[in-house]
Amino acid sequence: MAHTEALKRSDLEALWMPFTANRQFKAAPRLLARASGMQYWTADGREILDAVAGLWCVNAGHGRREITAAVAAQLESMDYAPPFQMGHPGAFKLANELVKIAPRGLDHAFFTNSGSESVDTALKIALAWHRVRGDAARTRLIGRERGYHGVGFGGISVGGISPNRKTWSAALLPGVDHLPHTHDLARNAFSRGLPEHGAHLADELERLVALHDASTIAAVIVEPLAGSTGVLLPPRGYLKRLREICDRHGILLIFDEVITGFGRTGSPFASQEFGVTPDMITLAKGITNGCVPMGAVLMGKPVYEAFMQGPDGIELFHGYTYSAHPVACAAGLATLGIYEREGLLTRARTLAGEWEDAAHGLRGLPHVIDVRTYGLICGLELSSQAGKPGARGFEVFVKCFERGVLVRQTGDIIALSPPLIVERAHIERIFGTLGEVLRAQ
Ligand SMILES: Cc1ncc(COP(=O)(O)O)c(C=O)c1O
Repeated sequence: MAHTEALKRSDLEALWMPFTANRQFKAAPRLLARASGMQYWTADGREILDAVAGLWCVNAGHGRREITAAVAAQLESMDYAPPFQMGHPGAFKLANELVKIAPRGLDHAFFTNSGSESVDTALKIALAWHRVRGDAARTRLIGRERGYHGVGFGGISVGGISPNRKTWSAALLPGVDHLPHTHDLARNAFSRGLPEHGAHLADELERLVALHDASTIAAVIVEPLAGSTGVLLPPRGYLKRLREICDRHGILLIFDEVITGFGRTGSPFASQEFGVTPDMITLAKGITNGCVPMGAVLMGKPVYEAFMQGPDGIELFHGYTYSAHPVACAAGLATLGIYEREGLLTRARTLAGEWEDAAHGLRGLPHVIDVRTYGLICGLELSSQAGKPGARGFEVFVKCFERGVLVRQTGDIIALSPPLIVERAHIERIFGTLGEVLRAQ
């Protein structure tokens, strides 16, 4: 099969790989060629257990035939339909299916093609919303340190991961401020469930309101559970406090659920899991089980209806050529069908205890300074090698791959987020392999 053929060194040059150490990779490539269920196979035929659902997106496991069939049928019947001033049934159907599983009150969807686009869309809707309501001075956006909201200029501006920002610092959006992150190893390391300490950090929003005045602030955006920065769980009560402060000051609250959406925490969305409903939710990844790029922004009536007033005409000058692409919609509908039939949107809840116990079994192994889990997510934090932050994390990632398990590394934190079809034997293998690698460090 052509796609499993080994590539020569010279074949690797043309591609500039994203978020990748290109030269290191090309010197020792890690090539995936095939996937099914919980497994990948490398180009040279080695089996690799997927402990990260690709990149937090293949929630129903790889190679789902129902999705393949739906995508093929859609391509046969209609390959593309323009989304501006035109529609197709799949787009409306998918919006309806999404709002059925969304937190109550979030009953409208706007489609994008990625998490980054969902974030930019939500931020733009927030600014536009205040403006259509006659409150155009509300332009300030508030993110959080260590937040990840993709790589658009909006996303990196509200995001809080320094390497993603510094290169473009002169071009970041003006009028953005940040809440402090909630990571507190001294007080919360090895917590089980949500950490006890840190709800008070939401009150920093009051400080920003006092500094800038509420009349200038449009929206706050946070991940309800931060993933890409290395799995930071929200302290107990923190999200509720943020919601209360936003309500008090007329500020929109946006939850970025690009990774927590579609069952990762044990509920369809983290908003439901943590009992806090934002004004908008950004989505992507699991919406199509990762197999066709797609994203969405969910919002409630108060947001949507504000735009549906006034004279007829285009209400929002925003959208993408591929918004609600028919093939993505077909994949999304098939994916949601699988999630429902197989109970995958709540399966993480039934496995969470076992997952947590297995993860905490790594406590006490060399270099392990924290283990934190929620639903089917785990962050394993390792002490850094002197003067070489990230080196230990990278080594563990590579060694796990060599032993047949794909994990994700962010600095010296290993993040795990397996497909939601994961079984006990896989859980044992994932943590067993990490244990072996850590003992050999
Ligand atoms: C919370 C969050 N927001 C946004 C994004 C960006 O999504 P994409 O890479 O699809 O643009 C990610 C990606 O990991 C994410 O985790």
